[in-house]
Amino acid sequence: MCGIIGYIGARQATPILIGGLRKLEYRGYDSAGVSVFDPSGGPMSRVVRCRGKLSALEEKLQKEPAPGTVGMGHTRWATHGRPSDENSHPHKAGPISVIHNGIIENHLALRAELAAAGAKFSSETDTEIFAHLVEHALLAGAPDLTVAVRRSLAKVRGSFAFVVMSDKEPGTLVAAKNSSPLVVGLGDGENYVASDVTAILSETRRVIFIDEGEMVTVTRSGVQITDFDGKPHVREAKTITWSAVQAEKGGFKHYMLKEIHEQPRAVADTLVGRVNLESDDVVLDGVDLDVAKIKRIIFIACGTSYHASMVGEFMVESLARIPVEVDLASEFRYRDPILGPGDLVVAVSQSGETLDTMEAIREAKKKGAQVLAISNVVESSIPRLSDHAFYTHAGPEIGVASTKAFTTQLVGIALLAIYLGRRTQKLSKERARQLLAELVQLPVKMRDVVESGAQLQALARRYGHAHGFLFLGRGSQYPIALEGALKLKEISYIHAEGYAAGEMKHGPIALIDEHLPVIVLAPRGPHYEKVVSNLAEVRARQGKVLAVATKGDNEIGGHADDVILVPDTALELQPILTVLPLQMLSYYVADFKGTDIDQPRNLAKSVTVE
Ligand code: F6R
Repeated sequence: MCGIIGYIGARQATPILIGGLRKLEYRGYDSAGVSVFDPSGGPMSRVVRCRGKLSALEEKLQKEPAPGTVGMGHTRWATHGRPSDENSHPHKAGPISVIHNGIIENHLALRAELAAAGAKFSSETDTEIFAHLVEHALLAGAPDLTVAVRRSLAKVRGSFAFVVMSDKEPGTLVAAKNSSPLVVGLGDGENYVASDVTAILSETRRVIFIDEGEMVTVTRSGVQITDFDGKPHVREAKTITWSAVQAEKGGFKHYMLKEIHEQPRAVADTLVGRVNLESDDVVLDGVDLDVAKIKRIIFIACGTSYHASMVGEFMVESLARIPVEVDLASEFRYRDPILGPGDLVVAVSQSGETLDTMEAIREAKKKGAQVLAISNVVESSIPRLSDHAFYTHAGPEIGVASTKAFTTQLVGIALLAIYLGRRTQKLSKERARQLLAELVQLPVKMRDVVESGAQLQALARRYGHAHGFLFLGRGSQYPIALEGALKLKEISYIHAEGYAAGEMKHGPIALIDEHLPVIVLAPRGPHYEKVVSNLAEVRARQGKVLAVATKGDNEIGGHADDVILVPDTALELQPILTVLPLQMLSYYVADFKGTDIDQPRNLAKSVTVE
């Protein structure tokens, strides 16, 4: 999510830090800052940071220069705490400065503990807590910065990459990784640390990728890698041969493919701090609903977010038994909707800037409904306009075709449905426990699917020359059929239609012949038998069937030309797995056709016109 760079050497750090952060700008951010040791002043690190773009930081640095040869820089993409000067990184506590990418899951408990011990906080962030923890560890007798960081790591839960400096130890940077990316760059009498190789590629190509659960102490003369218990790890440096453009995409050919692969991690980030396996409940930060007063829920959204909302209808109705309606935000106002205080409007928007959705929210508020935003961009217009905000924490999505934003929206809505279900008492503690356990296992299952690229690439080659595709699904797989068709048309420009499988016989069956690939969502569940009958109807008319089914289904192969298997999960969560092969198939078909996948013709990432 956020961009990180650190430098230690003989050259002035600030230009190297700014240069590195500029390479990470493409990822999106809302504030930036540096912390640099000024050898002539103490030594004391100087922190310069502000909300806005790097140019704003550079302007500030003109007035408040930060000379020195050791430093670190950060671009923040807000998660905890709105974008502001105070919430920008680096954060300081006494001699310690910290930059951080990720989320500290137990930040509230740690904040309370530290406040009771006298810590004073100057930001709303979870990151500042880590600066205080390291300061406290030093005060409590940790012999050096590395040990202080190690002792502090033992207290935090969550996903993170930290870089820490201490005014008391100006020749050292200490960094640690759990889930968020971290790489060390090796130079001659100078070394680097960064969240992405892109940030340091113009300075060095010799790097060590830091693994999960590793920390690294970086000095001018070398790097020392250990696990969180201090056991040394010996690692070989690699020479990066990627071009700068390839490096931005993490070695993937397109942002879309990178984002498809990022989904397991993005979903894990959506879940961080929200699943309480002890009380079998969900913690929804930023949401304070009087559930007893909610008589009806209306989802409003556009495009892919609308499809997530359609799945949401199934999740909320089945788990919380509250009636749900789903509306296209672009149509909502035109039917003069009947709304009142018993209605909760849930506005789903990745960007948080879609004008149609904003106008629908204004209409809902005018008529007295409460509005909850589900968005990926902290402090964007839609969450600010709403009464409550839930952030998906998927990280910046750059490919125009939405992938990780969609699956994290589904996870966010599943959390909301469980939260509501527990409060309406329609969802038993036992069932909530099973669902939460399944949610926590999703990232591993998703990885299983996104790593099956070779099969989807082969299928794309086989079917990619078709002039049209039909996608079919029943129940909560119907919105996934719509989403599969939308993905395919957006990036490959092939006409595709999504249909409720039961509707096929009412019209689209006329399209079926040997040239029409039909993609059928057929995971195990209550609609399985009926969907298999639909497969048979397609094949009886020479249609080519590609079925997405559940691992262990030995029957489906007899009804389809090709089968893609996904792991089993709870019925309500199946769409989060079945959509993955559809995203990948679309990607590989488009790649095979050679279209501009990340910026398909005529499309924009954020649609701010009606
Ligand atoms: C499709 C896609 C669009 C968006 C739609 C709404 O891949 O990305 O259909 O889902 O424009 O955008 P948000 O979610 O930002 O409101």
